[in-house]
This record gives sequence, C-alpha cells and structure tokens, in this order.
Amino acid sequence: MASLPGLEPTETAATAEDTTSTDTRKRKLGLRRCTRRNKVTSHDSFLSYANGRWWKVAGVLCLVSLLAYIFAPLPAQHFGGTWLGYTLGTISAGLIVWLTLLGVRKRAMTPGTWSLKAWTSAHVYLGLSLIVVATLHTGFDLGWNVHTLAWALMMIVIVSGMFGIWFYWTLPQALSENRYDEDGAVTEKQMIEQLRSLDRQIHDAAQPLTAEDAAVVEKSLEQDPFDGSIWNRVTARYPNCATRRAAATLREARAFRPRVADDPLDRVDALLTRKEAMLARLRRHLRLKSLLQLWLYVHVPVTFALLAALSAHIVSVFFYW
Ligand code: HEM
Repeated sequence: MASLPGLEPTETAATAEDTTSTDTRKRKLGLRRCTRRNKVTSHDSFLSYANGRWWKVAGVLCLVSLLAYIFAPLPAQHFGGTWLGYTLGTISAGLIVWLTLLGVRKRAMTPGTWSLKAWTSAHVYLGLSLIVVATLHTGFDLGWNVHTLAWALMMIVIVSGMFGIWFYWTLPQALSENRYDEDGAVTEKQMIEQLRSLDRQIHDAAQPLTAEDAAVVEKSLEQDPFDGSIWNRVTARYPNCATRRAAATLREARAFRPRVADDPLDRVDALLTRKEAMLARLRRHLRLKSLLQLWLYVHVPVTFALLAALSAHIVSVFFYW
C-alpha cells in the first residue's frame, strides 16, 4: 500500500516499550536509581499504565466538572460565556493543544520522567474526558455554527481514537495468529521469500505448457503481491488477482482434456494452489497492519481541522464579546 506521507509513525502506542525495562536491567546490575517509574512493569499496557493513574485523573476531572455544572451558582442558564463556561472552555482548549502535541512527542525519543507510554495513557484518558468537559462547556447550546463545528470535529477525533484503541487491543493478537502455521511463526519477509520460491517453481513447471496456458501463468508471476489500492488492502479482496485467474483458467482447460500421467498442468495447478494460500495469508497480514494505521488517517487530519475550527471559535467569541 502506498503509505500516506507524514503518517509513518516512528513509534506507535502498540509498539511502545516503556524504558522501565532498562531501569530493571540497571537495578539488576547494581546501578540503583530509585525513580517512581520503577514501579511500572514493562508488561503494563498504556491503558493500565501506573495502576490506571490517568484513568483516575480523567475521572476526577469529569466528576468535578459535572458537580460544578450541577451545583455552581450561576445568574442565568449554562452556556460557554459564564465563568464556569470559560473555565471549562479554557481547560478543554488547553487539553486539545496538549493532546495534539502527542504527534511531536512520538517523534522525539526523549528519555525522562514522561515515557511515551505514560504520555499515550494520559492522552487517551484526558482525551476521553473532553466528552464531558467540553460538552459541559457548551451548556448543550449546540447549533449550526462554528462553535458547534469545533465540538463536532472534536467528537470525530475522539471517536476515531476509540477505534484506534480497539484496533490496538485486538489486532496484534490476530496478526500473530495469522503468522503461525504448522512450521511455527513466519515473518512478513519470510512470506515474501516463500512466494518468490513458489514463483521460481511455477516458472520451471510451466515450461512444457502450451503458449496459451503459459501466458496465463506468466501473468501470475508478473503481478506484484503488494499491488492494489488501499481498499483492496483493507478488505483483503483482490478481484484482479492474476494467480486466482490463472488457477481457474488451467483447471477449466484441464477439465476438457483427456487425463494423462505426469500432466504438467497438474503440477502447475498444485503450485498455484499453494501460491493462492500463501497470498491469502500475506494479504490478511497486510490488512491487519493497515487497520492498525487506518484510523490515524481520520484522527490526525481531523485534529488539524479541529485546531482551525477551535481558533475560529475562540477568535469569534472574543470578537463578539
Ligand atoms: C480532541 C482530542 C484528541 C486530539 C486532538 C488527538 C490528537 C492526536 C494526535 C495529533 C496524535 C498523534 C498522531 C501521530 O502523529 O501519529 C494522536 C495519537 C493518538 N491518539 Fe489521539 N487525540 C485526541 C483524542 C484521543 C482519544 C479520545 C483517544 C482514545 C480513546 C486517542 C487515541 C490516540 C492514540 C492511541 C494515539 C497514538 C497512536 C500511536 O502511537 O500510534 N486520541 N492523537
């Protein structure tokens, strides 16, 4: 798949390793350096990082906002322009800017108190808390205007983030299951090598075929296994698969010919069938890998649209105020 520029993450939340494992190694070597991060094991997912620290912080933020919304004495009804509205709005805008900075943080491999795992954990939970904090900021006064546009874009970013979490939660397991067969685990590189080896065998076995049959087989050998649109990749459906077409054409040709011993068509057919199975596995692998990134194609561009709408919202509020 042609990957979109700028979205090739240097490190993802799914792959991020907390540097605590390094700390543990240092401790074993006698290099004692007690930091709070030593308490966190490298097996922690970013969702349960530090015993759910950011889940709790986000929960408290939501609770306090909700209690203030219910009990704060306001002269009129709730809306963004009350003192509470401004407070919740400022917190929300600050959070949105900080959440956006994860993109910068991901690309800066900085050591220190804030590991990428901690940052991502805070990102997820504080991002979710915006559903409560920013919605209470609006006072449910939504309409067809730039203010609601900013809120709607924020909700789209948040929902796409939820999809991201779901993919990170489920896909690595599916990826590893797809890589296993009776001989153990195969890497993507090995899958490609096996395909190349099958291609060489098909090429040799197809030598005795008629020019017409050989031409169909040739198409399968020429087709790049990575060829295909993003849609093909995400659905793992390749209607123009030359290998499938070659196998079907040869089977049809064989059905109308008398059976002979050591028919080269049989050998080519068997090899094409193996290639089809190998291709199916590689395509499942590519599909799962694409899904791990696909949601970011919504999450990141809509974040920038959100920043634009948020700026317009803030400027218009102060302009009309
Ligand atoms: C308005 C709120 C949000 C904004 C502005 C925002 C923005 C961003 C940005 C700019 C990135 C960096 C992407 C990159 O450069 O590759 C990112 C990553 C991420 N976001 Fe959000 N986000 C928000 C809310 C959420 C929520 C609510 C969730 C989860 C429920 C979430 C989950 C993630 C995850 C898991 C990553 C890390 C992806 C990775 O490391 O591969 N985000 N977000």
